[in-house]
Amino acid sequence: MATTQRTKIAKLDMTEIFENHGRSRDNLIPLLQEIQEHLDYLPPEAISRVADHLGLSENDVYGVATFYAQFRFHPPGRHRIKVCQGTACHVRGGGMVLDAISRKIGIVPGETSPDGNFSLERVACFGSCALPPVVVVDDTVYGRMTARKTEKLIEGLE
Ligand code: FES
Repeated sequence: MATTQRTKIAKLDMTEIFENHGRSRDNLIPLLQEIQEHLDYLPPEAISRVADHLGLSENDVYGVATFYAQFRFHPPGRHRIKVCQGTACHVRGGGMVLDAISRKIGIVPGETSPDGNFSLERVACFGSCALPPVVVVDDTVYGRMTARKTEKLIEGLE
């Protein structure tokens, strides 16, 4: 999606969202969640408007938002890769799978590749704990992954 299109959508959606939330600082997380639900990430304009709405500085908003792994600050890539780091996946090598993907596509969790093809996220649990380690690509679940299997999967997407 072109940046101008995304910006227009951001303005429309955020107006509606702000109308539904008061100016109490308790609304910070719900506002950020709702904006991200609509836009798939939190663009700088959203951070700025949330700060204005709640009477906070942008640094305050970023400070809270960056504390939570659920918030993204870059538009998602064409292929969204999510790697489970929950306990069951972690003990079966989820960290190595995440490192392998990170090396393969050259980004760390929370980033989108410069060509816009991939974004990488760390997730706490997909609820598929019988198949560790689990990777989800574009809503398809891949279980019992290894670093090598994941690299081949990504090569198939390129
Ligand atoms: S811990 Fe990975 S799917 Fe539950």
